[in-house]
Amino acid sequence: MLSEYPHLIDLADHPVVWWNGLLDLAQEIMSNPVLYANSCRGKIMGTLFYEPSTRTQMSFQTAMLRLGGTIIGFDNPQTSSVAKGENLKDTTKIVSGYSDVLVIRHPVAGAAKAAALTADCPVINAGDGGHLHPTQTLTDLMTLRCEKGRLDGLTLGLCGDLLNGRTVHSLCKAMACYPDNHFILISTKELAMPAYIKDFIRAHGGTYEETYSLEEAIPKLDMLYMTRIQRERFASAEEYEAQKDTYILDTKKMKLAKPDMIVMHPLPRVDEIAMSVDDDPRALYFKQAKYGMYIRMALILTMLQSNQKTELLSGSAHKGICCRNPKCITNQEEYLPRSFTGKGTTLTCEYCDERLLLMH
Ligand code: NCD
Repeated sequence: MLSEYPHLIDLADHPVVWWNGLLDLAQEIMSNPVLYANSCRGKIMGTLFYEPSTRTQMSFQTAMLRLGGTIIGFDNPQTSSVAKGENLKDTTKIVSGYSDVLVIRHPVAGAAKAAALTADCPVINAGDGGHLHPTQTLTDLMTLRCEKGRLDGLTLGLCGDLLNGRTVHSLCKAMACYPDNHFILISTKELAMPAYIKDFIRAHGGTYEETYSLEEAIPKLDMLYMTRIQRERFASAEEYEAQKDTYILDTKKMKLAKPDMIVMHPLPRVDEIAMSVDDDPRALYFKQAKYGMYIRMALILTMLQSNQKTELLSGSAHKGICCRNPKCITNQEEYLPRSFTGKGTTLTCEYCDERLLLMH
């Protein structure tokens, strides 16, 4: 299904040259913000935040305000008609009719794609469950490009909740599209990177290794990406308790790192980075959050100026087949058309990327 709007659901919806163009524009805005102060005058951005957020929401809002536009939306669905039982389709249809661009964050994988199916304006995915977070990745690409000077030939360490962390999924998919990047995936077995992301890295010519030990990995890294254990995505408190505090970056571990290794984190931090690390000049997570505002300015501007169409569903429905991921939007909003890519015995859900192996 081809939508007539230029959505950003997954960075893979757009070619690498488009990402690079956004990064160029963000750097240009950062050095000449006054030149862009009125570029979105008269435009309205709607924000539908079904899940808590500080940085993503506020950086989108300040981005639009700094471009001269205005904002509407909610950050607590309980104060909107969602509390009365309104479905995602109806809320999206209405708010997209009031807005020129819509930013959505939702606890369920595939929700941004589902919203784009009915929206009457471009939709930006600001995080869909444990699935993807493309605008955090744009923030991360901008940080790497400004701070390391390149996006290729890097050894990238990703540490923490690699199973449920949407930021690391989007980041690996993006960095695998630049040449010669090597990924060191640091996690417990229970929170390892999903197979579809590792397959994506391999299919794009990237390489990866998996390890439990942060101490062993850290000396090899150009960048260390720490993540929080995603408490809200665990089935029980016991499972979360068993995982929390496994990885804590402290000044002792920082001594093992290269002098020019940078530390990134999408934030919020819980306790996976000791506060004493904040004073290390290699700790870039606060600066990273600021880059996020400039890249979102570039993104909003680009979305509002573009008339590019987006392919949302290219696969097909299979009689009697539903996605097996209980955290997929198609299992929560049942009116949605099912759609799978692939053929034979392996199908992939086009909303949440869950793979289904069919038995014949
Ligand atoms: C992240 C998210 O929401 O996925 N935060 C963010 O957007 N900067 C990371 C997290 O919540 O752990």
